[in-house]
Amino acid sequence: MSLKNKKILIVIGGGISAYKSLDLIRLLKKNSVEVKTILTKSGKEFVTPLSISTLTKNKTFEDIFDKDDEASIDHITLSRWADLIIVLPTTANFMTKLTLGKAEDLATTVLLASNKDILLVPAMNVRMWLHKATQRNLKILLDFGYNFIGPEKGEMACGEYGEGKMSSPRQIYSYLKNYFDQKNLVKNKNFKALVTTGPTREYLDPVRYISNESSGKQGYEVALALNKLGIKTKLIAGPSNFISSKDLKIKKIVSAKEMMDEVKKSLPVDIAVCAAAVSDFKPINKSKNKIKKNISNINNIPLKKNPDILDYLSKNNKSRPKIVVGFSAETENIIENSKIKIKEKYCDLIIANDVSKKDSGFNSEYNQVSIIDKKGKIKIIPKNKKSYIANTIARIILDKLLMNDKNIN
Ligand code: C5P
Repeated sequence: MSLKNKKILIVIGGGISAYKSLDLIRLLKKNSVEVKTILTKSGKEFVTPLSISTLTKNKTFEDIFDKDDEASIDHITLSRWADLIIVLPTTANFMTKLTLGKAEDLATTVLLASNKDILLVPAMNVRMWLHKATQRNLKILLDFGYNFIGPEKGEMACGEYGEGKMSSPRQIYSYLKNYFDQKNLVKNKNFKALVTTGPTREYLDPVRYISNESSGKQGYEVALALNKLGIKTKLIAGPSNFISSKDLKIKKIVSAKEMMDEVKKSLPVDIAVCAAAVSDFKPINKSKNKIKKNISNINNIPLKKNPDILDYLSKNNKSRPKIVVGFSAETENIIENSKIKIKEKYCDLIIANDVSKKDSGFNSEYNQVSIIDKKGKIKIIPKNKKSYIANTIARIILDKLLMNDKNIN
């Protein structure tokens, strides 16, 4: 029973669908889930604290400064108590507050202070949902890492038809069951991943090197996203200045050879994601001293090829990771070239991106990618923040890994 003894905090928002929170609470309680609730001021217009507390058998929290409770249950304790937080219904106005990071009442303060996964369950009129402002907010909230269920298509309380109807308590319940099932599974399997990222530097002399424009940001975000899914992840990063993370193991290296050595040391892993822009070549000789500008032969720097780390991993018979993912940065014929690469490099997925575009790809906060599998199936992720793209990639990788595992066992 994946839901048994789980702790769920439900924030009840101000919409007509708030009454459905009572059905969800009943369903959860029937399945031995511990439920606590925060009732927003506008939510109180639709349901009463008494009806909620009768079902949860717990106090319904309302105010940020509760003279009876702030000492024993403050907003931090409440958010740490939960395994998952649900906002139901999530109104258009509430979405705006979350994008702004407001902390104006107990509900918004708990959400801002939370270190848990948060599930938003939108419910609103179809025009409100489709409005550019709400759709922009949706993108921002997905980028912040909020999860969404719905809205569904159907007839709404206002009598109009379209997308905006809240998912039913049954649909939310199945979502929760899958969510905790998968969390348990990942935890029990103890999955491990390695991610390479950033450029490498190949020195000609003590101060000059061959390198490239890669910022390492996309690989960093993929590593964070895998980690967040419960997969123990090690990031092997070339010179880059992203912020470090206390949750993530990061090993900094400089050259392609050091990256390869670190990759070998990290095996075996279940997942390998090669997002690094490894220098293809390196100088055959590195001068001990700085090369003088008056050297006789300036037309010739002898180079040799660097080892291909992705190729090494995917063709490694002894300890091939179950899922090997490559990146393909191209400036033309992106899909065709990437399809060739997935075959040549023998990987399970390739993430293709167009690096010729301004404000996307190399050295940008944004990216736009196509995820291609071995059969040539393509999933396009339109331009979005690298963190959002990373969350989508991580989910696809985990689904593939779980599918693989299921087929093997
Ligand atoms: O062939 P190309 O360099 O375009 O392939 C890109 C993919 O191969 C990326 O996933 C990159 O991280 C990986 N690669 C590697 N080692 C190299 C060169 C590329 O792992 N020496």
